[in-house]
Amino acid sequence: MEPLLAAKEPSIVRVLRGAVVQPTPVWFMRQAGRALPEYRELRSRAKDFISFCLDPEMASEASLQPVRRFDFDAAIIFADILLTPAALGQKVWFEAGEGPRLGPLPDLAQLEAAVAAVAVRLSPVGETIRRVRGCLHESKTVIGFAGGPWTVATYMLEGRSSDRSHARALAIEQPEFVDRLVDILTEATALYLAMQADAGAQVLQIFESWAEQLAEDVFERLVIRPHSRILLRLQELGLTTPVIGFPRGAGASVLEYGRRSGVQGVGLDVQATARMGLKLQERLAIQGNLDPLLLRAGGKLLDRRVGELLAQWGGGPYVFNLGHGVLPDTPLDHIAQVVARVKAA
Ligand code: CP3
Repeated sequence: MEPLLAAKEPSIVRVLRGAVVQPTPVWFMRQAGRALPEYRELRSRAKDFISFCLDPEMASEASLQPVRRFDFDAAIIFADILLTPAALGQKVWFEAGEGPRLGPLPDLAQLEAAVAAVAVRLSPVGETIRRVRGCLHESKTVIGFAGGPWTVATYMLEGRSSDRSHARALAIEQPEFVDRLVDILTEATALYLAMQADAGAQVLQIFESWAEQLAEDVFERLVIRPHSRILLRLQELGLTTPVIGFPRGAGASVLEYGRRSGVQGVGLDVQATARMGLKLQERLAIQGNLDPLLLRAGGKLLDRRVGELLAQWGGGPYVFNLGHGVLPDTPLDHIAQVVARVKAA
């Protein structure tokens, strides 16, 4: 029996404070949108994707849809990592069937001047958070998020989804320029996350989706240092909201990331090993790392893998999740199957 607490914190918050919670709490990255037919219906009514994200009525509905359908322990707020550049004054739009497009990169001085306005410009996301918190059972966690500064910088520099080779080359050839852009994004991201926490987000996740292919010193410069500064800024602003860092593709550097970024939880990608997770669990909580391809494939192998993950990490602070986002064509009964399996363990 757990001790009775007056205002019991939701399970994922407790895990991030170091507790071992059973059954293991579960949610999926990219659970909102993508796979759900009710999302597509809602999306067809939106003028464009950015207006959708900034419409609290529609965005709160999209955030709640996966929690209505599945017994997830968290709702992640429906928004996008590219709202940060949009709020800083770079044009962002989405081409149907292709993905994001960004206009020319504004001068760094112009971006810098816009940082203080980011929380106000993105205040509709705060309103979405208030609405979702108001609709959700208290046992469930509301998760706010932002893109990692480096990942967002890659989109700002490349102008679209890419292999990031131009951005990575610039980071080596013009380090002062890229560091300054990352610094601007670090402060903007901290202010944006703080606004989300003030609005009621109980956990914050930093999606550093493109932490791959960075040499050790570059990873330190572009990932560990900016994340640790975000954590320090949140602390300076008086916030104790736990943060999950997800440096996807970090490889073995994820261990150094766990030691030095200051996050309370580390999201593990598909390639992270059992041993790496156990090492991280000595000091932090971990989240991950079921292969989204296996989720889509379904069947006995899926059940077996879920059992393995629970057995290898369930003895420490652990949030069950994928190693990356839900694939758009994932059969919904496979999601239900995994959630049921996790809850039954
Ligand atoms: O987790 C959730 O379901 C909540 C919302 C969420 C979205 N994007 C909604 C979205 C989250 C957490 C994100 C994060 C995001 N956005 C990341 C990091 C996570 C990851 O998958 O690596 C990245 C790299 C982006 C940038 C982005 N946004 C791309 C590349 C695209 C196009 C392709 C795609 O992933 O769908 C988007 C569009 C986007 N973001 C959609 C949704 C539901 C689809 C847009 C549509 O419905 O037209």
